[in-house]
Amino acid sequence: MTGDPRRARTGRPLPPGPATFAEARGKRARVRAAGMDPDYWYAVAHESELPRGKTLATRFWGHPIVVYRGADGSLHALEDRCAHRQLRLSGGEVNGCHLTCTYHGWTYDGEGNVVHYAHDLFGRARPEVRVPAYPVTTRHGLIWIFPGDPALAGARTIPAIPELSGSRPWARLDAVYTWQAHHSMIIDNVSDFTHSYLHRRYRPFWDAKLTRHELIEDRVELSYETRVGGGRLTSGFVDRSRVDTTSIELAFDYPYQRSDTGGSIKHWCFVLPMDRRTSRVFFVFYFDAVTIPGTRWTLPRRLLPHFMRVAGALVVKPLLCEDGAAVEAEQLGYETHYAAPIVELNPAVGLFQDLTIRKWEEFLDRDRARPHPSGIATADGRVIPPPRGG
Ligand code: FES
Ligand SMILES: [Fe+2]
Repeated sequence: MTGDPRRARTGRPLPPGPATFAEARGKRARVRAAGMDPDYWYAVAHESELPRGKTLATRFWGHPIVVYRGADGSLHALEDRCAHRQLRLSGGEVNGCHLTCTYHGWTYDGEGNVVHYAHDLFGRARPEVRVPAYPVTTRHGLIWIFPGDPALAGARTIPAIPELSGSRPWARLDAVYTWQAHHSMIIDNVSDFTHSYLHRRYRPFWDAKLTRHELIEDRVELSYETRVGGGRLTSGFVDRSRVDTTSIELAFDYPYQRSDTGGSIKHWCFVLPMDRRTSRVFFVFYFDAVTIPGTRWTLPRRLLPHFMRVAGALVVKPLLCEDGAAVEAEQLGYETHYAAPIVELNPAVGLFQDLTIRKWEEFLDRDRARPHPSGIATADGRVIPPPRGG
């Protein structure tokens, strides 16, 4: 192990700048050093990414977690670390509903207990060994884990999206990215409409004026007057005679982000803070109806999935890739110029950052007061979630 506290577990040097939250000075440094409160549910993958009998390696704020699906379809999430010699369990094999480490064959059940040793125990009693397990569930076609205190998992809810269920679900369009950027940069990006210049080719929104911004408990609400879907390509989606596309409501509903245009076009953005400079971002867009481009005719429902695939490939994904490139460039800019003064003009961005900082500080306070703190304030900023029952 290197003595450099700025070096990640991977051995890759971490960027300069404040290594810990305590070191950070100023709002920008504090927000860029902040993690996200692990006492919430976080989307880690689409269900389709994890077939039966397979493992999926992920991370929450630097801490490795393996999710695996048993032969019966059940999902389990464990610390991605064999308790024997610390190999990643995600490199192991799923056997029934158990996970076997590839090295000496220790086999774990879904609660993280070693239930089988594939070698001689040298006359010892079978040791009782376990690794932390995390609550895991599915909703909206996504796999969610609860990386924090499992006792709180039942009290936290994953946002409901009633529009996507029932007999006439809205048309849905998904996009997922892993971006090399701090999670707060992504929250800033998706709700700050001053960056319409970046999207000058597609013009998903244009000429935005912030008309409201308010911090209400753990939520920032904001509205813009703007022309939504005003570009040549993006305008094809919307019947403007039916849907008010002159304003948009957004919220950073911690830790999730969402928008609503005229009650007809909505989205959720679920961010997984993998580490200080890596975030996985799940976008779920949904539309109550889609217009055939160039007409006022509504597309027949049976054609919606095909249309969504084409629209996603031609418009939505290229547009989001512009955002991805921008936040990754912002991350590099921050790492190079972390001490430079910041000029932030949009007051809503200040509120997102205040909320992110407060939630992280509240988590740190709560964690320190626990009988077995999670060891959160490690030098490299990693979160070590509390072990469950062991
Ligand atoms: S390292 Fe996993 S069984 Fe030995
Ligand atoms: Fe954008």
